Amino acid sequence: MLSGQYGEQDSPIARHLVQANRYQLRILYDIDQARGNGRSGEDQEVAEMSVTDPMRAHLTEDERTADLRLDQLRQLVGLVDYDVSRDPFPVTGMDAIVFWVGNATQAAAYYQLAFGMDLVAYAGPETGVRDRRSYVLRSGSARFVLEGGASPDSPILDHHRRHGDGVVDLALEVPDVDRCVAHARAQGATILEEPYDETDEHGTVRRAAIAAYGDTRHTLVDRSRYHGPYLPGFAERAATVTRPAGHPKRIFQAVDHCVGNVELGRMDYWVEFYNRVMGFVNLAEFVGDDIATEYSALMSKVVANGNHRVKFPLNEPAIAKKKSQIDEYLEFYNGPGCQHIALATSDILGAVDLLRENGVEFLPTPASYYEDPELRARIGKVRVPIEELQRRGILVDRDEDGYLLQIFTKPIGDRPTVFYELIERHGSLGFGKGNFKALFEAIEREQERRGNL
Ligand SMILES: [Fe+2]
Repeated sequence: MLSGQYGEQDSPIARHLVQANRYQLRILYDIDQARGNGRSGEDQEVAEMSVTDPMRAHLTEDERTADLRLDQLRQLVGLVDYDVSRDPFPVTGMDAIVFWVGNATQAAAYYQLAFGMDLVAYAGPETGVRDRRSYVLRSGSARFVLEGGASPDSPILDHHRRHGDGVVDLALEVPDVDRCVAHARAQGATILEEPYDETDEHGTVRRAAIAAYGDTRHTLVDRSRYHGPYLPGFAERAATVTRPAGHPKRIFQAVDHCVGNVELGRMDYWVEFYNRVMGFVNLAEFVGDDIATEYSALMSKVVANGNHRVKFPLNEPAIAKKKSQIDEYLEFYNGPGCQHIALATSDILGAVDLLRENGVEFLPTPASYYEDPELRARIGKVRVPIEELQRRGILVDRDEDGYLLQIFTKPIGDRPTVFYELIERHGSLGFGKGNFKALFEAIEREQERRGNL
């Protein structure tokens, strides 16, 4: 592969050049595809400009592997161009979402069966790892890692006792681990793991980790010199379930955003943390006001990396008549943590139908939501009749850039903590602010049924 030509001691810059070469090949390929293979001199110029222009967004290796296209990602996750050379903590995108769960073996089957993900790699006792089983699943550019304790002394079991099934690591792909860690340290972040190399027959991965809210961490991963299925120590693994005939290749293409719940009064601290330590920017939909229903309330702000592939809304509870959904999360997760993960799909109707068929439960949306004339007027024209959305309980929100369709699952574990969102963007780069009230009323009905309101 390309990276070998620079040897083991290649510098971040050399690795960047290798990546740039790959981008160039891919961009030429994309243009070929888009324009029927007749490459003109103008195409060539566009392609070369895009490689030398640090402002221009590129596809990641994971996105290329998943056959995604730049124009598709601009729509799916709101990917934008930005000047990477001015970024003190350049982040390419999400590397993986790592879950510590009570039973990873069964969870791996669930995510294959219900969410249509592909099992691609595995580590555990059979590969020399004594205390855990780790399953790596993919859907488009999204990578989930499910880990469970395989021996009584596994630290995963302690974590599970405290938190239940949850996200332990929002791992980020970065081009230069050392540069990020140096910046994070200078800004006062807690470095959980100093930069280190791990090597096997597929190459070398450089990693480090910094602490985020609660017991959540951000592992920083540079896998530009690695060609194995996930990390050194992992073996390639094929699907353990058979996809039914006629089902699509995948139900979702990418991770859109990962939401963190933090304690009362801590939201601004973490917004400032992502600004200062990781160079993240505040997104336009930066809602500092209470989002309230009659009973519960929260505050929410959104930070994103330069290219907007990584978006982290941060919630804190606000004072209200009854217990906020964020308070319920904090109580049952036993502290701050990742509340929901939004999965970007280009066909939310098909995705909802399939997930329902597969046993995934969604929050019901009241009929009044669709009948509200104010909402109908605000939504305007969307790609499908409102009745199709209503039949599935899909919510709509519109802003000056366009609209989005979204829906939320019920919590997927035993505790009322982690859940999923499906999101189909059509220009809007928001998070469904206009739906918060309707959504929270639906969540409150569920809270009430659990006796937690
Ligand atoms: Fe969301």
